[in-house]
Amino acid sequence: MTASALILGFESSCDETGVAVVRCSPAGLPQLLGQALHSQIQMHQAYGGVVPELASRDHVRRAIPLAREALRAAHVPLESVDAVAYTQGPGLAGALLVGAGVATALAAALGRPTLPVHHLEGHLLSPFLSADPPEFPFVALLVSGGHTQLMRVDGVGSYQLLGETIDDAAGEAFDKSAKLLGLGYPGGPALARLAEAGRADAYELPRPLLHQPNLDFSFAGLKTAVMTTLQKMGPEPSEAARADLAASAQAAIVDVLVQKSIKAMKATGLNRLVVAGGVSANRTLRARLDAVAARRRWRVHYPELSLCTDNGAMIALAAAMRWQAGLAQPSRAYSFEVRPRWDLAEA
Ligand code: KG4
Ligand code: ZN
Repeated sequence: MTASALILGFESSCDETGVAVVRCSPAGLPQLLGQALHSQIQMHQAYGGVVPELASRDHVRRAIPLAREALRAAHVPLESVDAVAYTQGPGLAGALLVGAGVATALAAALGRPTLPVHHLEGHLLSPFLSADPPEFPFVALLVSGGHTQLMRVDGVGSYQLLGETIDDAAGEAFDKSAKLLGLGYPGGPALARLAEAGRADAYELPRPLLHQPNLDFSFAGLKTAVMTTLQKMGPEPSEAARADLAASAQAAIVDVLVQKSIKAMKATGLNRLVVAGGVSANRTLRARLDAVAARRRWRVHYPELSLCTDNGAMIALAAAMRWQAGLAQPSRAYSFEVRPRWDLAEA
């Protein structure tokens, strides 16, 4: 990259269609100029989870209107776009194909190159768009609906896995506990809301692998514990008891995330932590990590609240940062493949 460039980015890996315009230059951090987002949550709610076929069809409907909206918000014409980025994986194959197809067709029509992006790299780098961007190196705690990983990050493209979940992801643990409590989908934010009225020490729920020396996580046992606790409450638990259980479940998840982050910081000797992915929006997690960081003189960085869950801005950003770092090869081949399963270490 020689001069300043505009990147249009598409996210369509799951149940959010996101499009954004980012300006990047050879030096300095990329800037978000404008974005547009459509969440399919309402559409999937009736089914209690994401229906892949419906997700793909909705991405088809939304992609172009959202691209128009993002360009309008950025105050730039389509013709000024220098490259088109899209989420190549991991995610739902059909949903990914829509974003990849639309982005590639648009790039071909404009005669501009495409830049495929790893969804988790988008999350991981999203705090660089915040008012308080991090500096390398740092430990990253990546907590989304599908992934829970601790990584050592020495620069763009330099990601060393330190530990990860051996079963459910942290977001999944929130969602499954919420579902048992009758809170619908996706349950993370709803469970966090209900937990505000509850006592976090009301029920003792499992914190698996907490005292193991490794940096792995396990959350599958939590939903079983929530289920048996609910069964003991009888058919119509009081609102207070449900709030107590929500607060206790949240505390169990947050406890493990915080303790394992502390272990990772000790193991690497680093003093900077970056938290990203949907669960990084959780206020209790943020408050606990902020308190630990203040005591231990670390810095913690988060994405802006609006950029914690899936969005196009993080995809355009990751493409920009990889391009800047000379790691991404913009391509005019105009053929594409998606990677529904894809390790970030291989990106
Ligand atoms: O990163 P994301 O948008 O999608 C994936 O890439 O998976 O993360 C979505 C996950 C869901 O499990 C959702 O329940 C969770 O993030 N989440 C939260 C909160 N906001 C979103 N979990 C706990 N507290 C929140 N405030
Ligand atoms: Zn995500």
